[in-house]
Amino acid sequence: MNYSVLEKKLDIGKEFKGFLTQIFDEKLDCIIEAIHKRQFWCDDLSLNYLGTIEDKRKIIEPKLFNILRASSKNFLRGLLESFDLKSKEIHIFLPRLLVTMPYDLIPKELLKSDLLVKSGFLNPFVEKEYSYFSFFSDHPPHIDLIDYKDLDSHKRVYTCLIPLTSSINQNNGGLYLSKDEWPYFPDMSFKRCENLQANNWQSFFIDQFQPIAWNQYQPHTLGYNKNVNMTGFFRFCFCHDLNNKPILRSPFISINL
Ligand SMILES: [Fe+2]
Repeated sequence: MNYSVLEKKLDIGKEFKGFLTQIFDEKLDCIIEAIHKRQFWCDDLSLNYLGTIEDKRKIIEPKLFNILRASSKNFLRGLLESFDLKSKEIHIFLPRLLVTMPYDLIPKELLKSDLLVKSGFLNPFVEKEYSYFSFFSDHPPHIDLIDYKDLDSHKRVYTCLIPLTSSINQNNGGLYLSKDEWPYFPDMSFKRCENLQANNWQSFFIDQFQPIAWNQYQPHTLGYNKNVNMTGFFRFCFCHDLNNKPILRSPFISINL
């Protein structure tokens, strides 16, 4: 199976929701203030700081790993079992807070930029001191294989997405998964894949704090957020053994289950 929606009432850990919400809200306040003061968007495209020590996502990464370490083992086991994976360990990487920005807050000239049309990724246009989240205008149809260029086809890597600020519905961008998998990605530099747009996109309603997960071949897309509030998510990636672990430039943790 390519994707799995976990139960709404799943026990994801006593402090899990509180810690995540606390980190998110704390950073959100300073981001909203910067937007109002017109200090948030940068004048020049800045790609060089992404993934470096200056990238503020790196500052909160250890906190997100700690939250995962403190999460319920039932939750982590449930994630693996929902894909019929049996393991005494889970390996977790790329924990991030993601945001779909309200459409009206995105400068209109940015929406036309080639980079944004391809990826929806806003951070190259954001001043690095506010780069705590991965900001998106939308998530064009893609598979997460885009993040693991050297991954062997027999390996399986999973992405777990958890809405933090509200449920996900069509008003705040929605979440759509295709029933057909894309077995490969035709051109890794071309993320918004119009020509391979799969048929049978299915709309999902995901509750606040309800996890959904998929493997690297599952096409998915989120649209523009037409609400006034930012839509926040917690995202992390995982695999069930080290043989499936992709080559990473960032840290990973292993948790005994
Ligand atoms: Fe994705």
